[in-house]
Amino acid sequence: MNYKDYIRIIPDFPQPGIKFKDITTLTNNGPVYASAIEAIRQAVSDKQIDLVAGPEARGFIIGAPLAISLGAGFVPIRKSGKLPGEVVEASYDLEYGKDKLAIHKDAIKPGQRVLIADDLLATGGTIATTINLIRQLGGEVVGSAFLIELGYLDGRSKIDGIDVFSLMTY
Ligand code: PRP
Repeated sequence: MNYKDYIRIIPDFPQPGIKFKDITTLTNNGPVYASAIEAIRQAVSDKQIDLVAGPEARGFIIGAPLAISLGAGFVPIRKSGKLPGEVVEASYDLEYGKDKLAIHKDAIKPGQRVLIADDLLATGGTIATTINLIRQLGGEVVGSAFLIELGYLDGRSKIDGIDVFSLMTY
């Protein structure tokens, strides 16, 4: 399947010069959405994953169905101030902007094998921060999976040593 046929490119969003990759035109098609999640599941199926961690908000759209298909739990990585329990936090840079991410302190037990899932790998700031949070809790990051990788931003260079699977690359 050519998944790129289902991605809508929106120019100048959220800022002039950015060509936004809109995944909603893929996820609103049931069979294509299911096929994309299944393709990611197959790519990571040898990793003995205990938990999938997904950063808010679009990471939930990929991470939660992937977790279910793997028989793994799902851990939400949220922006600061959203999680009700005790958290660990770290700040990060985005392709456009800056923010803070948080994880519940008891979300991961030491030694658990965690896959990170998100819709997009851009500069790599979000995933680098997510790795940092998971490791602070003693989790083992066993890989990362994305619908889309913006290869020209070289996010991979921020996460040396971690497997990256991306269904589409621009
Ligand atoms: C987007 C995207 C990734 C991140 C990728 O999320 O969903 O999480 O940016 O960029 P990076 O590799 O440069 O860090 P965003 O923070 O815009 O939040 P949203 O999913 O809530 O829209």
